[in-house]
Amino acid sequence: MKATELRIPQVLLQGPGCLSLIGKEIGRLGTKKALLVTGKVIEKSGYVERVGKILEAAGCSFGVFSDIVGEPGDKDVMAGADAYRKNGCDFLVALGGGSPIDTAKAIGIVETNGGKITDYMGVDKVRKPTPPLIAIATTAGTGSEITKVTIINDTANDVKMLISSPLIVPTVAVADPELTLTMPPSVTAATGLDAFCHAVEAFVSKREQPITDALALRAIRLISQNLRRAWCNGEDLEARANMMLASTLGGISFSNSSVTLIHGMSRPIGALFHIAHGISNAVLLPVWAEYTYIAKPEKFAEVAEVMGENVAGLSTLEAARKAVDAIAALCRDVEIPPIRKLIPDQAEFEKHLEKMARDAVASGSPGNNPRFVTEEKIIELYKKAY
Ligand SMILES: [Fe+2]
Repeated sequence: MKATELRIPQVLLQGPGCLSLIGKEIGRLGTKKALLVTGKVIEKSGYVERVGKILEAAGCSFGVFSDIVGEPGDKDVMAGADAYRKNGCDFLVALGGGSPIDTAKAIGIVETNGGKITDYMGVDKVRKPTPPLIAIATTAGTGSEITKVTIINDTANDVKMLISSPLIVPTVAVADPELTLTMPPSVTAATGLDAFCHAVEAFVSKREQPITDALALRAIRLISQNLRRAWCNGEDLEARANMMLASTLGGISFSNSSVTLIHGMSRPIGALFHIAHGISNAVLLPVWAEYTYIAKPEKFAEVAEVMGENVAGLSTLEAARKAVDAIAALCRDVEIPPIRKLIPDQAEFEKHLEKMARDAVASGSPGNNPRFVTEEKIIELYKKAY
């Protein structure tokens, strides 16, 4: 066993109705003016009003920043930082999926560290603690409310920047499944498989560790048992609660043990073709499993087992192969399309493959994949997933 470290939020609120507990946490923080960072869709959902009432009851006033279109870019962050200062805020509340939460983390970085958000691309570039952040998830998948990572588009270079620092782990994470009941099936599938990728990538990562192994396996089991249910019937609160718990467990897992090749390859697809994060992972997941399982068959065999496959009497390699099949079936059942359905212009897709492979390797995540990868191999895998 090796020495490891685990970073998680100071407080993790989990389960149906836990949103109402944030008032107590605000009292503990002693903060008075929030910048509530959210998206346009959420703003219309009534959740902003609900959170606003809780903030006011806790003696706080707040300004709303919702100028985020799609996945967040450097300009959104700078506009948000401006709003934070103009409103005289002393803490951040993020409400939404990965985009608002990632934006809030990035606003916090610029607020206390100065400069531009592009200055902080990479690992451990953030030097000063960021303002307190209460991160409220409205999707079950990105895990951003838990993690030390934010992904921001560098719009000048069409690159999704990964910024990682223990200083940006949210102070309070809120994972209330009641907020996910209105997610449409396509978002349920995409975010649920994003959580699956977090768990399975962390579980087989070169940076695996015993604590996250336990959490990741539990997440994989929960997603296997509940994603189809939540996708078929969005109002199934038990399935939603289990998916939210899986998202939390997957988030802790990858934040501490890293994602690998799927996320490395998916970010360039998102940056260049503006495809939502969960989907750009899901389209790569079956091809990745097929390519990677022979590198850690003993772990993939465990994945097969928690996914409900009968592995009795099989060799380790045969059992591992069952995980590959089970993963492909899960993606098929929730109607994840091949890349060609999302990017029909094949010539346009292939034109960018070299840059995509280069950017994937440069992000660092593929370096944690248990099976070696080169830029040539990544291009081959993109073509296979197309
Ligand atoms: Fe992700």
